[in-house]
Amino acid sequence: MKGLILSGGKGTRMRPITHTQAKQLLPVANKPILHYAVEALTKANITDIGIIISPETGDAVSECVGDGSKFGAKVTYIVQDQPLGLAHAVKTARAFLQNDPFIMYLGDNLIKDGVAPLVQQFNNSHVDALILLKEVPNPQSFGVAALDQKGNVVCLEEKPKNPKSNLALVGVYLFTAQIHKAIDEIKPSKRGELEITDAIQRLIETNYKVNSHELQGWWLDTGKKDDMLEANRVVLDEMSDTYNKGLIDENTKLTGRVVVGQNSVLKDCFVRGPAVIGDNCHLEHTYIGPFTSVGNNARVSHAEIEHSILRENCEIINFHGRIEDSLIGANVSLSRRQTRPLAYRLMLGDDSKIEVV
Ligand code: DAU
Repeated sequence: MKGLILSGGKGTRMRPITHTQAKQLLPVANKPILHYAVEALTKANITDIGIIISPETGDAVSECVGDGSKFGAKVTYIVQDQPLGLAHAVKTARAFLQNDPFIMYLGDNLIKDGVAPLVQQFNNSHVDALILLKEVPNPQSFGVAALDQKGNVVCLEEKPKNPKSNLALVGVYLFTAQIHKAIDEIKPSKRGELEITDAIQRLIETNYKVNSHELQGWWLDTGKKDDMLEANRVVLDEMSDTYNKGLIDENTKLTGRVVVGQNSVLKDCFVRGPAVIGDNCHLEHTYIGPFTSVGNNARVSHAEIEHSILRENCEIINFHGRIEDSLIGANVSLSRRQTRPLAYRLMLGDDSKIEVV
């Protein structure tokens, strides 16, 4: 079985961060989301992996994953000229996929339980598609499946206004080569995309067997800022590591599960885990609260940060008042002169600079 990870697209919902960065490369617990997808596949022994990239962000994606050897995989990059839909991405990957069965994994999705049990279920069941479903409160935002009383999939719709169920399609799909024929038979949707949802619906209509599996563990589609913070919270909440590879002075207190990376220095700080602090960071007189990831090379002094993601190379100096629920891009500089306490809720693109005076 081959793997196909989709890491193209425009990432418009995550702007301004994704003006300069592929959304699949944003960090969750200081690791790019895309790495979780590659690891999920290799853990299921799927090591021949194609990654769909866009012309705009493809170089950064290939730099981040490399040839796959660090994951024990062989990665082939496939450029999709325009983000014309998930089924269009499969069409673009036809030469790589040949007639092999494959697992398609959306590069901005995170699921708790990995995919090995699903691969096994698919291999044992002789179906042409296995889809993953999860009950959600807002099915209008997803592909939605309707099942009959026996649990067979009878109908699929992409982001319906009046959903027939609350079962969303999770971004992990397993297919035989029959999906290519179904894709050739569908037309672009109202939003102008070739939808994989329509291709699976076509399989059903032409009497191919589509099975579903309801996911029990958590699933996160990291499309928006709050989804990213939630992904960071959930992954840090389950983090079992605690280690300190940095230098911590006697006035610094770490409580709960905390990771401090190599060459990082903490002076007079209080870090309440779960939290991760990257490599080469310098933190002074600072509070880092639960569910916070601080990227590599951060410089932080006289600040309080909680439930937030800071990408690499950020500088936060004398920023009194708590930064919370925030996603802060790379190379951001924040400083403030007054000391009146405030709360800040921020979504800042790379290279932003904020001074509150
Ligand atoms: O997350 C699950 C949902 O993903 C499903 O419930 C929907 O049925 C499915 O259509 C999809 O919906 P989204 O609107 O969330 O898809 P999005 O445009 O965010 O793209 C998902 C991933 O695929 C993302 O990593 C970008 C990549 N992509 C997307 C398109 C449209 C490509 O590589 N090429 C593309 O042409």
